[in-house]
Amino acid sequence: MQNQAATVVVLGTGGTIAGRSANASDNVGYTAGQVGVTQLLQAVPALAGAPLESEQVAQLDSKDMTHAVWRDLAARCAHHLARAEVSGVVVTHGTDTLEETAWFLQRVLAPAKPLVMTAAMRPATALQADGPQNLLDAVAVARHAGARGVVAVLDGRVHGARDVRKVHPYRIDAFDSGDAGAIAAIEEGRLRCFRPWPEGAALGLERVPADGSAWPVVEIVTSHAGARGAAVQALCDSGAHGLVVACTGNGTVHRELEAALVTAQERGVRVLRSTRTRAGRVIGVAGDALPSAEDLTPEKARVELMLSLLSRP
Ligand code: SIN
Repeated sequence: MQNQAATVVVLGTGGTIAGRSANASDNVGYTAGQVGVTQLLQAVPALAGAPLESEQVAQLDSKDMTHAVWRDLAARCAHHLARAEVSGVVVTHGTDTLEETAWFLQRVLAPAKPLVMTAAMRPATALQADGPQNLLDAVAVARHAGARGVVAVLDGRVHGARDVRKVHPYRIDAFDSGDAGAIAAIEEGRLRCFRPWPEGAALGLERVPADGSAWPVVEIVTSHAGARGAAVQALCDSGAHGLVVACTGNGTVHRELEAALVTAQERGVRVLRSTRTRAGRVIGVAGDALPSAEDLTPEKARVELMLSLLSRP
């Protein structure tokens, strides 16, 4: 059931959904983050006259996302979600780092109302632009009475912040929820729900510095054939507070890299193991030298470790 009278606030951050190309048949040679969020909404006739507000929080290609923009975005989301007349917030974003931003927002805000991220695989100028339908669907989710938590709406499906991941660099159907599956499908503006909405405790924004350079330094290293410990040593020497290792299979690490990571951990650098397989989770066993990030992808495990370092330095 939808609350048509309630206000939805749409926050723009850029991405391909706001991308522009001189040539309508160009699906790759465009510039992301060009079209303002108000214009994006005007391109969806079905939203004309709907109680919507818009605000441009950033205008960037999401590969260039910064911690400072994350902090600003979380603060604007928190502000609007606290307004009684607002049923939910929509964030337009680039697809490339959408899942990291989603996990950051879920962990910091864990909102009781829907915070809906959306994006597009084709620029606003494309013949087959997917942004307008995704935006329309995202607004439907932001109005849905039972919806809550941070979700991503793309290509007719609702994905939870923990599970969503970009699995293809080009296809319009580029997002997936792995083993968990989507939370819902959106069909003609109506939701068909399959499983519960994201929940959890909010860490709060109080300990998240507005100055991005004050955040803990957490880097990702990958285990692979011929891996060496030198990269870990160099990162520790340059001041890393935490390291996530994208492991082979079920959290295994090349012996050279593992030795360097164990040494780093003994010296106080926090380490988390994730899997580079992009699906499933690292199933830990008693006596593991390095803790597991469970089902978090390396990029989400990095967010998790940064937030953990911020709340318990
Ligand atoms: C971006 O992530 O900002 C560019 C790519 C995209 O949105 O698909």
